[in-house]
Amino acid sequence: MRTVHSLKELRSILKAFRQQDKTIALVPTMGNLHEGHIALVRKATEAADIVVTSIFVNPMQFGASEDLDKYPRTLAEDQAQLEAAGNTLVFAPTVDEIYPEGLANQTKVVVPEVSEGHCGASRPGHFEGVATVVTMLFNMVQPDIAIFGEKDFQQLAVIRKLTRDLMMPIEIIGAPTIREDDGLAKSSRNGYLSDQERAIAPVVYKTLTSVASQLEQGRSDFNTLEQEAKEALAGAGLRPDYFNIVNSLTLKPAAEADRELTLLVAAFLGTTRLIDNISVTR
Ligand code: PAJ
Repeated sequence: MRTVHSLKELRSILKAFRQQDKTIALVPTMGNLHEGHIALVRKATEAADIVVTSIFVNPMQFGASEDLDKYPRTLAEDQAQLEAAGNTLVFAPTVDEIYPEGLANQTKVVVPEVSEGHCGASRPGHFEGVATVVTMLFNMVQPDIAIFGEKDFQQLAVIRKLTRDLMMPIEIIGAPTIREDDGLAKSSRNGYLSDQERAIAPVVYKTLTSVASQLEQGRSDFNTLEQEAKEALAGAGLRPDYFNIVNSLTLKPAAEADRELTLLVAAFLGTTRLIDNISVTR
């Protein structure tokens, strides 16, 4: 497995693979890899000949008061896990390589509607940063396939829309959320939790599954269910940011006639912001 840091090296290696008619899958990440990321890489090895994993903590998608500086950078450990999973090439560029003219002067990709609300409302500019860097990664790698986790459900919807709207010839594949044994969705940010917070964190998934089963049993008083879920989170010591029951395709508030619903949640535990979701068919 090779690791490259420059766009020039990336392009020259990929050109050789393309000349051999190899199919290419891209797995974009911010590093500090865990089993959730590695599951995407494994899926990618089944879907294409060549797997490129990018590792780039993208400053454009972090708000001014967010965790850009403290976000864990663990390249050596990431490389070992990627190699074991069958990854072909790691692309780990510097910030200067990606934004040579700085952030203020950067062309941006704005995805309407699906990026509004939920995390888009709580983190202004976040999805612009994600959509921009993912578009750039798509142009740099020119993959046939790109794999993203359902853990970031709204992000996956944003990427599906931008790929469609901008006519990108890339197949977007979603992969299920990998969880700890107690249900907590694996996340690089779980490492920020104290032991006490870590003991509380599974309440997020427990609340999701409890609301999902009530929906399956026929409840459709969505607003009340959302309110009850936020009270359950607050009662356990979390500070709910949002708990929204939405149409799985549009991410708009659920309507009585909708059959495919997704429950989206974000909540703070101390200073750590946890997100999770599950989908229900009724
Ligand atoms: P990051 O948080 O590192 O996540 C990289 C990919 O791993 C995303 O597609 C995310 O949904 C997926 N992922 C994270 N935790 C997961 C879990 N527990 N189970 C399954 N998949 C999981 O998401 C980003 O980076 C960035 O926004 C990025 C797309 C790389 C753009 O900068």
